[in-house]
Amino acid sequence: NHTDDRDTNPRKNNYSEIVKKNENFEDYYRNQKLIESNEEFAEFLKVLAEPLPTTFRISSFCQGQAQRMRDIIQSDYIKDCQAENNDELIGGKKLDISPIPWYPNNLAWTINLTKTEIRKSRTINLLHKFLICETETGDISRQEAVSMIPPLLLDIKPGQTVLDMCAAPGSKTAQIIEMLHQESGSTFISGDCQKNDVKYMDGLVVANDVDNRRCYMLAHQSKRLSSSCVVITNHDAANLPDFYKSDSERGKTVLKFDRVLADVLCSGDGTFRKNYDVWTKWSAGNANNLHNIQIKIAKRGLELLAKNGIMAYSTCSLNPVENEAIVAALLNMANGDLELVDASRILPELKCYPGIDTWIVMDKDNHIIASPKEVPEKYLPQIRKTHFPPSNASELNLKYCMRIMPHYQNTGGFFIALIRKKTDTLCWEKESDEITIEKKNDDDKEQQTNSKDDNKKNNNPDKKNKYTGFREEPFYFLNENDEDWIALK
Ligand SMILES: C[S@@+](CC[C@H](N)C(=O)[O-])C[C@H]1O[C@@H](n2cnc3c(N)ncnc32)[C@H](O)[C@@H]1O
Repeated sequence: NHTDDRDTNPRKNNYSEIVKKNENFEDYYRNQKLIESNEEFAEFLKVLAEPLPTTFRISSFCQGQAQRMRDIIQSDYIKDCQAENNDELIGGKKLDISPIPWYPNNLAWTINLTKTEIRKSRTINLLHKFLICETETGDISRQEAVSMIPPLLLDIKPGQTVLDMCAAPGSKTAQIIEMLHQESGSTFISGDCQKNDVKYMDGLVVANDVDNRRCYMLAHQSKRLSSSCVVITNHDAANLPDFYKSDSERGKTVLKFDRVLADVLCSGDGTFRKNYDVWTKWSAGNANNLHNIQIKIAKRGLELLAKNGIMAYSTCSLNPVENEAIVAALLNMANGDLELVDASRILPELKCYPGIDTWIVMDKDNHIIASPKEVPEKYLPQIRKTHFPPSNASELNLKYCMRIMPHYQNTGGFFIALIRKKTDTLCWEKESDEITIEKKNDDDKEQQTNSKDDNKKNNNPDKKNKYTGFREEPFYFLNENDEDWIALK
């Protein structure tokens, strides 16, 4: 899904004509038995077909400034907007602006109108202007409520290093930047609490996206916040190269991140309320096809995570094939080097379903596939063993995952899992290290008899094929004193 946080354009897409019903979707989720009672399932479908409320977050660069802004909203803005509106109904609704109950310190708000309703209504000009002006100045960020959850659960602190793997358009990146600056209350150039207190911060966020055009959105988001802590990269997250840092004591070392956010591409059925075209395009096949790239991205994220660091894996999909199945596969691959974190106490007011440890897999025509052995040959490249619940699913604490259901707190749908890395190196990286050492020993032996050029040709292809971790091909790194490099220079 490339549509997170994008404004939908009903005129351009004829969204008003879209029928918000999809029988395969209903059948799929009835079979998943996420929701047990028929009444609740009906409520779930009803809310999914309703438009999403507008939400915004007060920027938290400076606690004092954010609190003053909140107090002004509470005391003046709401009253002024309501007075201007004079209780007129908009889209059949009475204007309601209230704090999001689970967001700390009333610093995020929800308005019971869509963006289009706010733009078109003549009785709430003040509110419309407020949203536009304060967004431009960076005082507020318009962001979907569920999208605010991962940075909050990651509990990002000033000074930390954070990798945002699939970051565009950048609403979570902006939130991460603000969290990195939180205690100093100072941005690099502007927006500081104490004027002239311009500081370089220690923290860092690397915001990456594979889509070059969308990287410009990232640049726009972070520029608004004038931070010195942001690096934007344009790379496939599944193959992100290592990052390096250097200091006077240890010289150049690989940078491992304190926090990683893998907010991966997904089928996006949690975005039905704002991306209406997902209703017509939904198929179980979409999630099946994305499962493998989702695993690869999350796996690379875990490799780049520091020991005791935490990675948030999140999607705006409700589908277990893109969610619990990925988390279970990672935990099993890591063989005890990873554990799920119970995040339910971090935001106590946030209502969600716990993760599940049994689910069903269907093909794109909604036929149930009972087990990995029964996957029809034509689906073998897409549907793998990891799509299915593993036999040890009940031992993996998948209940610690969080599924945000739209009908619980009038939001979009979302899934998030927090994974802690318990070791410096994951078992699959150790395997590849062993192969590298083995290869190096072989090379050293050969070097005694062969010329250097011969050595480069003699890499054993069988050993290469055994490699399971990340490999920085197609690069070959030369030493500064390498004679080939000197000749090239
Ligand atoms: C759900 S959106 C991310 C939303 C973003 N985290 C935010 O809060 O604004 C998924 C993003 O993943 C990007 N993407 C897709 N495949 C990718 C890959 N292989 N590597 C990195 N980014 C990828 C898409 O371009 C898209 O911007």
